[in-house]
Parts: sequence; C-alpha cells; structure tokens
Amino acid sequence: MEIIHLSAECYPIAKVGGLGDVVGALPKYQNKLGHVAKVVMPAYQTKFMQENEFEVVYDGWGKLGFHNFPVRIFREKTNKLGFDLYLVHISGLLDRPNVYGYDDDTERFLAYQIAVLDWITQWEHRPDVVHCHDHHTGLVPFMMAYCHQFKKLSTVPTILTIHNAQYQGQFGWDKLHYVPPFDLWKSGQLDWRGSINPLASAIKCAWRVTTVSPSYLEEISFKANGLEDLLAQERAKSAGILNGIDNEVWDPQNDPMLEKKYAIRTVENGKKANKEALCRVFNLDPLKPLFTFIGRLVGEKGADLLPDIFYNALLQANGGVNVLVLGSGDPQVEGRLMQLKEAFPGNYNAYIGYNEQLSHQIYAGADFLLMPSRVEPCGLNQMYALRYGTVPIVRRVGGLKDTVIDIGDGGFGICHDQTSVWDVGHAIGRAYELYYDEKHLKEIRKYMMQLDHSWDRAAQQYIDLYQI
Ligand code: ADP
Ligand code: GLC
Repeated sequence: MEIIHLSAECYPIAKVGGLGDVVGALPKYQNKLGHVAKVVMPAYQTKFMQENEFEVVYDGWGKLGFHNFPVRIFREKTNKLGFDLYLVHISGLLDRPNVYGYDDDTERFLAYQIAVLDWITQWEHRPDVVHCHDHHTGLVPFMMAYCHQFKKLSTVPTILTIHNAQYQGQFGWDKLHYVPPFDLWKSGQLDWRGSINPLASAIKCAWRVTTVSPSYLEEISFKANGLEDLLAQERAKSAGILNGIDNEVWDPQNDPMLEKKYAIRTVENGKKANKEALCRVFNLDPLKPLFTFIGRLVGEKGADLLPDIFYNALLQANGGVNVLVLGSGDPQVEGRLMQLKEAFPGNYNAYIGYNEQLSHQIYAGADFLLMPSRVEPCGLNQMYALRYGTVPIVRRVGGLKDTVIDIGDGGFGICHDQTSVWDVGHAIGRAYELYYDEKHLKEIRKYMMQLDHSWDRAAQQYIDLYQI
C-alpha cells in the first residue's frame, strides 16, 4: 500500500513532543512490512533543512482564499530515515524556527494542507491512504471529500489519528474564504459549536478515526474538551491503537548519547555508570534514589503540582532522595521549579528547556520517572523508561493505564489514581521502599527491559485498519 502521513512534526526533522516521535517511527515500521509509507510535513527553518540535500518535486502556487502563495515541495535525497520525506516550503509562512506558537498558525497550517493536496492531485496515480495526524492536518479529509479542486482525491480513504483532543485548531467563520471552494451546503462538516473546528471536521469526514491508546478512546467519550458528543457519535468508525516506540532510536545497548551503553544482562552496572555521570553534571548524590520528570510543563501533565510534590518529598526524606527535572512550558511552573534549586542544593536540580540528548541520559540514569498526568492520550516517556530499566510512577489514565502494571499487582511500575500532591507523594514513598528492596528492584529492571513496545505490532494494526 502507498500511505501518505501528514503531520506538523516528525523526528528528527522537527519534534515538540510525542507526535514527532510517532510520525518519525510509524512509517519506517510500515515500510519494513513491505508497504510504501511517506511523510509530507511543513519545511521549518531547522538544522535538518540546512544540513541535508533536497530535490524539488513541486514548484507552483497554492490558493489560500484570495491569495496565491508560492509553494515548493522538496524531497529529502538520502533516504536515510527509513521513509521518503517531503517538505512543503512556503516562504514567509512556514519557514520559521518554531513549529507552533505564531498568531497566524491557522493560515500556516491551512496553506500547508492546501499545498499538499494540490500536489497529490497532480500525481498520475492516487495513494491508497492519506493518514492525518492531529488538528494541523484536520481539514484534509474535508477538502479531499468536498473541495472542487481536489475532486480527484474524493475516493481516497482518509484516517485521522487523534494524539491529543485537547487541541483542536478552531477558528472563526470569518476565515471561511481561506478554504478552497466547495458546495456551501457542506459547511456543517466544518462546524463544531459555531466555529470551524479542524479536529471535529476530521472526526466527521475521515473514513476512520483512531486514538493513540484504547483507554484514551474510552475516556474521550466523557472528556474531550467539548468534542465528547461527537466522538461518542462517531464511535463505530473509531479504534484505539496503542503507540509503539522506535526500538532503534531508543536502545540502551546502542544509544550513542549515553555515558555507558548497556543490555539487560548488564543493566545494574550500566545504570550505575549513567547515574553517576548525570549526578556529576547536576551536583546530585548517586547513592540516593533519583526521581525524575521529563516533559512539557503544562496542566495536562500535572506539572503545576510538581513544585509542591518535590518540595514535600525532599523535605520529608531529609536529604535521602534526589530529584532532577527536564522540561519547559508554563513560566510560573518553570520559575517555581528553578527556585527549588536554592532550597535543596545537592539534592535537587532542574534543566528548563528542551534537550534531546539529556532526555536519553535521564531515561538511562534515573531510578524513577514520574508522570502524574491529568490527561495522557498515550505517553511515550513511560515506554522509554521501561526500555532503559527505569521504574515509571504513573497516574492510571489513558495510555499510562494501558502500559504500566503496579508492583502490587505483580507488575513493574508504581501507579496512583489521582493527580494530587498526596497521591503522588504516597507513590514516591512506595518507590523509596522499592529502591531499598534491592533484589526486587533488580528483578523489575530486567523484566521491564525485555517488554516489547516496539512499533512492529501497531504498524500492522494500522495496515489492517486501512484495509477494512
Ligand atoms: P507529549 O507528546 O504529550 O509531550 P509524550 O510522552 O508522548 O508526551 O512524548 C514526549 C516526548 O518529548 C518524549 O520523546 C520526551 O522524551 C520528549 N520531551 C518532552 N520534553 C522534553 C524536553 N524538555 N527535552 C527533551 N525531550 C523532551
Ligand atoms: C500527544 C499526547 C501523548 C502521546 C503523543 C503521541 O502529544 O499528549 O500522550 O503519547 O501525542 O501520540
């Protein structure tokens, strides 16, 4: 099958969070199964663009409402990623250093979607599936089905994968003229509660809808930032497919970013060496249990509670635990996490910002990784932690519920029910006990590392879904 993945992010070209990891891996694994999976994404001003070679495969004009905009689509030439990569270059709109966060994001992602469809319409053949990821590509199913200029694509199946229903990309009807012409009586397919809502439109128009874990599919019928009714209504065409991880990128045995590589057999020594290196850099004590957090500092991740959670844990343990945070987001949370450094020097540290290499070093060097998420459609961090022999401490929600089993139930992680200072504090207490139960901890580490969360299974599940 020929599968076209459309996404705003794709590792290693541009990644903000898990969406990038997924789109950088799933196509690779689909290709390994003998299919032809390609990625078409916006061309941002990134290091990847400067350091690689491209050929132009499309040079033309896209029509955004009344404006024509120049578009060039590049193909990455070396094919070292495991999939064909195409980058949509639109001067002045997409070629900026960041992926998101601009006032004109609506126009930017609309222009990208229009340009992609314009290009595909000109192909002599049609792809077998167009697979859209999140709201930035959410108007594609509508435009393929109803816009006159893309009529040729109206019979091509479209899939929407919802990575996070919280973000929907809504904009006002005053911008309707940005959408290429269609029969106006189809407007209802764009609308949700008075706005043009790309995510809602994709849920309505896509041939199939998936979420990134089975539990999240259950949860969004009750809690989806206003889309609950629609999701419940479209349930029959929906499926929950648990994300995998890229075992080649996330492999402690072969990870060039680590101080010391290790396998299951050598996990104790390997983690010790990585922990010591990490503690040296962050002025922590390698003999103490090391608790960590990696992620976006936003409410969904429970990040607002982290300062209190860590303050309490550090105070109660009286020098007996270490904490290291890597993340960025809400400036207030960032500020409070920085302040803790002064209160607990030698026991606490934080790196505010984004650092891919440091994230690998933390997965390898930490004893425990906290994910007290309020909402977690899948979560990849816990799966990376498992692969690196680090015990996840997670709230029972979404994909965390689907991937982590509590040690009390014969499992390998520590689970709690609420995103609350008390619940997480209690979980940290249980982890502290586990740390000093050396035999049990060693067994768990080995067990976690042999769990298979690779993309092999999920890549096939998507193929099966495309063919139903
Ligand atoms: P989300 O996509 O909601 O942010 P996921 O758990 O799916 O959450 O994926 C997060 C990804 O982003 C992981 O690869 C994680 O290691 C990475 N990540 C998050 N914050 C940072 C950071 N500050 N520095 C480096 N990597 C980060
Ligand atoms: C979103 C979700 C996260 C998921 C990721 C990849 O960013 O917040 O839970 O793992 O997408 O699907």
